[in-house]
Amino acid sequence: MPRKLFVTTALPYANGPFHIGHIMEYTQADIWVRFQRMQGHKIQFVCADDTHGAPIMLKAEAEGIKPEELIGRVAESHKRDLARFGVSFDHFHSTHSDENRQLAGDIFAALKDAGFIANRTIEQFFDPVKGMFLPDRYIKGECPKCGAKDQYGDSCEACGAVYAPTDLKEPFSALTGAKPVMKKSEHFFFRLSDPRCVEFLRGWTQGGRLQPEVANKVREWLDSGLNDWDITRDAPYFGIEIPGTKGKYFYVWLDAPIGYLAALKSHLDRKGVDFAKYLADPKVEQVHFIGKDIIYFHTLFWPAMLKFAGRKVPDNVFVHGFITLSGEKMSKSRGVSISPQRYADLGLNPEWFRYYIAAKLNAHVEDLDFNPDDFLARVNSDLVGKYVNIASRAAGFIAKRFNGKLSDEPLSAGRELRHKLRGNVSAPAADNEEQVPAILFEVRSFADQIAADYDAREFGKAIRQVMFLADRVNQYVDEQKPWEIAKESGQEPALQWFCTLYLELFRILTIYLKPVLPKVAEDVEAFLALAKPLAWEDVGDALKPGHAVQPYRHLLSRIDPKQIEQLLEPPAESKPEPAKGSQAPPASPDGPEFKLEPVEPPKPAPILPVGETISIDDFGKIDLRVARIVDAELVPEAEKLLRLTLDIGVETRTVFAGIRSAYTPKELVGRLTIMVANLAPRKMRFGESQGMVLAAGDGNSIFLLSPDAGATPGMRIK
Ligand code: MSP
Ligand code: ZN
Repeated sequence: MPRKLFVTTALPYANGPFHIGHIMEYTQADIWVRFQRMQGHKIQFVCADDTHGAPIMLKAEAEGIKPEELIGRVAESHKRDLARFGVSFDHFHSTHSDENRQLAGDIFAALKDAGFIANRTIEQFFDPVKGMFLPDRYIKGECPKCGAKDQYGDSCEACGAVYAPTDLKEPFSALTGAKPVMKKSEHFFFRLSDPRCVEFLRGWTQGGRLQPEVANKVREWLDSGLNDWDITRDAPYFGIEIPGTKGKYFYVWLDAPIGYLAALKSHLDRKGVDFAKYLADPKVEQVHFIGKDIIYFHTLFWPAMLKFAGRKVPDNVFVHGFITLSGEKMSKSRGVSISPQRYADLGLNPEWFRYYIAAKLNAHVEDLDFNPDDFLARVNSDLVGKYVNIASRAAGFIAKRFNGKLSDEPLSAGRELRHKLRGNVSAPAADNEEQVPAILFEVRSFADQIAADYDAREFGKAIRQVMFLADRVNQYVDEQKPWEIAKESGQEPALQWFCTLYLELFRILTIYLKPVLPKVAEDVEAFLALAKPLAWEDVGDALKPGHAVQPYRHLLSRIDPKQIEQLLEPPAESKPEPAKGSQAPPASPDGPEFKLEPVEPPKPAPILPVGETISIDDFGKIDLRVARIVDAELVPEAEKLLRLTLDIGVETRTVFAGIRSAYTPKELVGRLTIMVANLAPRKMRFGESQGMVLAAGDGNSIFLLSPDAGATPGMRIK
């Protein structure tokens, strides 16, 4: 009986291009889905952009565009990358959609009717300048414990203390620098602490549907008691207005998972399938792939919301760990990261990445390390050296000697044929009912185990078995020595028969790898001139005697180590320009043009001669201003840059500064610095840089300038 599967991945925030962690998650889910499709199961595989919330609103504002424009632009970039990495969503939707608005309203109303929504007045920090309640990440101040300045609203980076934003001394808004005031507001809460909720969640989470390590974590949360969940945000907010209120919005994490349903609905509507009826089918299995950082939302809030709104609850939540780079946490600010856009732009084959990820994935919540040397070795020696090698060994003979035609003898007849023609063949005898060569019997016999491993998300195990079989087949070819048979006269039928067998073995291995390598599999289907795409059940259905194949074109190239070097190198546009002559390094809107490679050991600062003399009038032309950094963000397309939003009193500016090796966005937001305000704007690939911030540097380190206490944004420097 075919299964009916409704599968999702976590919805990516619509605030920027994908990072490699997204691609890893989507690849994991995609491999699983492709495998299930090959089994003949019925899948609806959907995703959407998670478009709401304060960060997206503020980002759009900083760019001077509407949030709709921002999320539209990001959606284009996301869709492009999904296509490039072979992620086969049936539909990629948006939480900023009619379906989502409708479903969020319905679910909220149902929860209210069932008595799961409480109404409470809360008191929160409010930025009087911005006219906005401040999310914790936008409040800074002095640590209540150690007094360290410029700490965030939730924890101190200096002493590690954890506290509420209201505990901060001298709090200020990271958006405007203003002193926040306490302000009351009416909020809706989802009553997660309701005993019915807790009882349901114990059953749902502890019944064996979750990975053991996830179930344990959730049990700890349940044991320590659940708090009601504030699902309201006050205007200004980019989100879904709560029906029946004015200026109250659903918190983004309420409408985000509902986006799973919205994406499904939009997809089914287009296909003319009834959404409600589809989900009412008890045979439909609802499965979510997510990362370990969002377990709480998916194992507590989400199932409880669905349950008490009277809807279908998820069947499984499959949690994966994080991808790291050579053992380090990915961090663009420290230059430890791989950009999927750069990967694709450089022409690296996405199937290499898919293969590598698959070879290292298992069903546990373990981090997965991307190690460049290991990546190169596995792709070049296993995937190309073992698997692709089988096809290239056989294809040449079939093309040149037999005009693309396979042997007329069935594979089961091969044993007699071999004995008749080459009495000395040492191949293991066929010892099975079907009388097929033992090697074919062996390769086929792995089908069920490999299938079980794919189904259990033990992709690494599946790949190990395929590579074991590829080794066996190569060994077999080495024993049979087709290149020697080819030299013997009168042995054409044997040569043709052996090469046919190799291609048949290759065909089966291709079935085993198809969930991971969809493009290669498609090329193999074309090369073998198959009547229909390979499905799992085709393992036992051999190439027909006398079948003609197409000319062989190489299926997959090896990775050139240079490509990896390029991948790990920072992109060209942020490369420092060599300093000319003895002059001081030229400045540019990118920020200080110094060499930023963090890997270099510190060198003594070069002593540069003092530059050419200028007049006071020359200096006076430069409009230097005190600026407050109100936002700082990574620029995914440029490894060395940060996008700074600067408040200079009269206006805000966007500046791309080459200071990412020295500062994280977090530590910059809220602080004052000095900017050149009348520098000609410069268009860059990802936006316009409207000025330059000043920093000292010696080629190794960067020190951003800041004025003494008391200076305010917009003050001139003279
Ligand atoms: N928008 C929320 C999810 C809402 S789901 C209703 C979100 N978005 S995200 O863009 O931050 O992350 C999307 C997914 O990528 C999450 O499952 C997250 O765990 C995953 N990853 C983020 N960084 C990752 C790695 N470094 N490695 C692997 N997965 C990572 O959270
Ligand atoms: Zn502290």
